[in-house]
Parts: sequence; C-alpha cells; structure tokens
Amino acid sequence: MTNQIMVFQIILSLLIVILAQSSDANALSALDTFRSVIKPNGNGTTWAVLIAGSNGYYNYRHQADVCHAYQILKKGGLKDENIIVFMYDDIANDPNNPRPGVIINSPEGPDVYAGVPKDYTGEAVKASNFYAVLLGDTKATTGGSGKVVASKPGDKIFLYYSDHGGPGILGLPNTPYIFANDFIEILKRKHASGTYDEMVIYLEACESGSIFEGLLPNDLNIYVTTASNATENSWATYCPDTTSPMPQGFDTCLGDLYSVSWMEDSDSQDLRVETLEQQYLKVKERTLNNNSDMGSNVMQYGTLRISNETVSVYQGSTAKELSSNPFKKFNSMGVINQRDADLYSMWHMYKKPTLEIQKKNELLRKIKEITAHRARLDKSVNKIKRYLLGNGHGPVRDEGSALVDDWGCLKFMVRTFEKYCGTLTQYGMKHTRTFANICNNGVAKKAMDEAAKKSCSTFKLGQWDPVVAGYSA
Ligand SMILES: *[C@@H]1O[C@H](CO)[C@@H](O)[C@H](O)[C@H]1NC(C)=O
Ligand SMILES: *[C@@H]1O[C@H](CO)[C@@H](O)[C@H](O)[C@H]1NC(C)=O
Ligand SMILES: *[C@@H]1O[C@H](CO)[C@@H](O)[C@H](O)[C@H]1NC(C)=O
Ligand SMILES: *[C@@H]1O[C@H](CO)[C@@H](O)[C@H](O)[C@H]1NC(C)=O
Repeated sequence: MTNQIMVFQIILSLLIVILAQSSDANALSALDTFRSVIKPNGNGTTWAVLIAGSNGYYNYRHQADVCHAYQILKKGGLKDENIIVFMYDDIANDPNNPRPGVIINSPEGPDVYAGVPKDYTGEAVKASNFYAVLLGDTKATTGGSGKVVASKPGDKIFLYYSDHGGPGILGLPNTPYIFANDFIEILKRKHASGTYDEMVIYLEACESGSIFEGLLPNDLNIYVTTASNATENSWATYCPDTTSPMPQGFDTCLGDLYSVSWMEDSDSQDLRVETLEQQYLKVKERTLNNNSDMGSNVMQYGTLRISNETVSVYQGSTAKELSSNPFKKFNSMGVINQRDADLYSMWHMYKKPTLEIQKKNELLRKIKEITAHRARLDKSVNKIKRYLLGNGHGPVRDEGSALVDDWGCLKFMVRTFEKYCGTLTQYGMKHTRTFANICNNGVAKKAMDEAAKKSCSTFKLGQWDPVVAGYSA
C-alpha cells in the first residue's frame, strides 16, 4: 500500500516535471485527471476568514478587495460554510457608487459583490468578533451570523485582511483596533488548541510587517506575507486620474496594490501548480512598482517551509482555462498612499463640475475638518515627543525586533494621547511608533499624561473626542 503510494507520487512528480516543460494542452488535461484523485488538502477542509477593516465610500477599495477574494475562493471550490466574511457593507448601496448594488475591484473587472456572505457587517466588524471567529467560539460572537472557524486538526486556514494600519496596529470600522500582541496571542491560542494543520495569512495595511516582525514564532505552522515592511506604508491603486482607463463616475480607488497583485495572479494561474512562494515572488515584484518610491516591500514571516505548498491548498482551485492574458506584466501602476486615498477621493469628487453646490460645500467643509485634525495630530505628537524624548526619537529598535515589549504601556500611551488630543483616526495610526518609543524609553505614565494635557489643552475635540469616536486602544 505504502509502496503503491510512493510509486504514484514518483510518477506524479515526473509528470509534473515533464509537463512543466511542455505546452501541450492534451498533456495538461491528462494531468487534470491525475490530480482530480488527490484533493489538494488531503481529507482536510480549507477555511477562510476575510476582513475589510474600513468603511465609507472613500475607502471603497478595502471591501472591494475582500469581495474579490471571496469570489476567488468560491470559484476555487471552498464552501460558504467555510468562508467567514467581515465587511461593513456600506459600499454597494452608497449614493456615490456609480453602479448601485455592484462592487468592482479593477477598472474592467466584473461585479465581485454578488453572493458574498454577510457574516459580520456594520457594528459587528470588531476585534472581539474577529478573535472569537478565529478561535471557533460561536458563543463569544455578537451581532453577526455566528459562523466561526470550526476547524479540525487536519484543516487549513486562509486569512486575508485589507485596511489601514500603523506600527503594531490594524484598523477596523469600530474601535478598539487590533493590536499586534493581541492578534499574535490569539494565533498562539489557536495553535495550542490543535485545531488546524497549517495557516496562511495575507495582510494588506500600512506598516503591516510590524504586526509580525519579532512577534510571530516560526513554530505555529503559520506562514504570512504582508504588503509592506514594518516601516513603510502600502498603496491604493486603480484610482481616478492615475489609472487609465478608469470607468466613468468613480471618484474612489478600486483596489490596493499588493491585494490586486495576488488576486489577479490567482485569477490567472493554475493554482494547483503555482506554489505560495512563486506567488509571493510575483506579488513582491509587482508591489515594488518598478522600484519607485510608489511601492512597498512585500515581506514573509513565520513558518516559511509552508510556502512550498501550492496556492490551491489555501485558495482552492477548479480546472480552469489559463487566462489568455496571464498576469499583466509588471507595468508601473498609478498608486496613492493609503493614508491620503480618502482625501484624494473627496478632492476628486469636489472638483467635478457637475456636483451640486450644496454637496460641494459640505464636502469642502469635511475636507477642511479632516485636514485640520491631521495637522493637529502631527503637531501634537511632535510636541509630546520633544517634551518626553528631547529632539531625537530616542534609541530606535533594530530591524527584526518587535515594536515594543510592553504592549499595555503602548495602549496606555495611545489612550492618554487620544483623551487630550483626539482620536488617532486611520491617518494618525502612523504615529504609534512614537508612542512605542516613549514606552521603550521608560517614560512614566504620569509624564505622558502631563505632556499630552499641556500639548492639547486648547483643542476643542468635537467629533474627534474619543468619548464620541471611541478609543483606538
Ligand atoms: C482520507 O480518508 C480516507 C477514508 O476515510 C482514509 O482511508 C484515508 O487514509 C484518509 N487520507 C488521509 C491523507 O488522511
Ligand atoms: C523597509 O522599507 C523602507 C522604506 O521603503 C526601506 O528603506 C527599508 O530598506 C525596507 N526594509 C526592508 C527590510 O525591506
Ligand atoms: C515542503 O517542505 C517540507 C519540509 O521541507 C517537506 O516535508 C514537504 O514535503 C514539502 N512539500 C511540498 C509540497 O513540496
Ligand atoms: C521603470 O523605471 C525606469 C526608471 O527607473 C523607467 O525608465 C521605466 O520606464 C520604468 N518602467 C515602467 C514600465 O514604467
């Protein structure tokens, strides 16, 4: 029996080698027959968790990414009962959407919204539900479908997240946000529960490398790629005026560079042949965006040996005609910094000559408010830094080490800042490294409280008051 399997494996390996060098379509379909007897994931089930961490029409792209990912998995043969989707679900029917009821993820792309399960929407897109879903704890979920990753020891898990982030932190449409230490702790608990074989995480966010760098152990059977390293932002793409042709009427970006790179690859390749490593290398090249300043470094973390498995193990795969237009060559893509994409979209809409005057004024007021709050955030963080650390940043941590050791301290510093200076927002998340450095330098909590009070005492917080907007930590 064992010998038979071994012989079969050897024949299969030979076939793969031979076929890799042949372009004969008949040979490929012969391989299909062979492959169909081997499920890519043995007898195990593949589970997926998909999360869009933002809301609002100006952040259209994150939900578009997640819907697109769902379509890939669904086409690949994963069942709805095994795919858990978190999305605010306010895009398809937003009055600004030029195609009501439809979401697209690229200029000429199809609708990716149809059929997406609405497991956790609106208020239910929150950290506690995300953790409960990963741990398979239905009882701990609130406000959603209650669907969770009820995985067994032989199962695989694919997790994909797209949103804003900052050093050590991932955004959500509802506060508090996800902090790296909590996320890693949940992954450790999941591993300790023995309820999966291997897990793959794809993460798009600014500074997404910082979620895992120096934090994710290599022995959890979890393999990760991130859109950017620990110190750089990631990029929105398919944006008005930077992409041509852009479909009529869209004032917002349709996708994100790392995300559309892996998904357009998955759409066009035979995932039973392509390995995770091969996908990583292609996505890395495309996301570097011709080595311009307008690109980021895709990173790998965790149990790297997993990357020798085929993509189909995690994303499924049905026999498909290879696209005649396989993975567009890596042209430079027009991109917009994640953190500026919302203002960029608002500005684009504002400039439209057809926009009614009342809407124009409203939009301008909003743009001014956001810009003013951003300026205040930057200024007050700088002031506090000077008070507490002098003119330098204090010692900066080596590459490869965690952002901070005392995460409780980091959360305290964030809350204290927000109490006096207003909520960080998706833009202000970029400042968490400063708060981490304040902790790394052993600054007393009391000193932070005084510095924040002194820096922001004249602020009227209004809509940015964390009592209204919620605390990030
Ligand atoms: C799959 O399930 C079949 C039938 O239950 C069993 O005989 C076989 O050993 C299993 N294979 C693996 C790889 O677990
Ligand atoms: C991380 O990104 C920054 C900014 O793009 C770059 O200077 C640095 O070399 C990168 N580090 C790694 C390890 O990719
Ligand atoms: C991947 O690597 C591991 C360890 O090096 C090995 O045991 C496994 O057979 C490899 N898997 C594939 C699909 O090549
Ligand atoms: C890539 O960048 C180089 C200059 O650094 C430029 O000459 C070339 O045209 C760019 N390629 C594309 C496809 O944009």
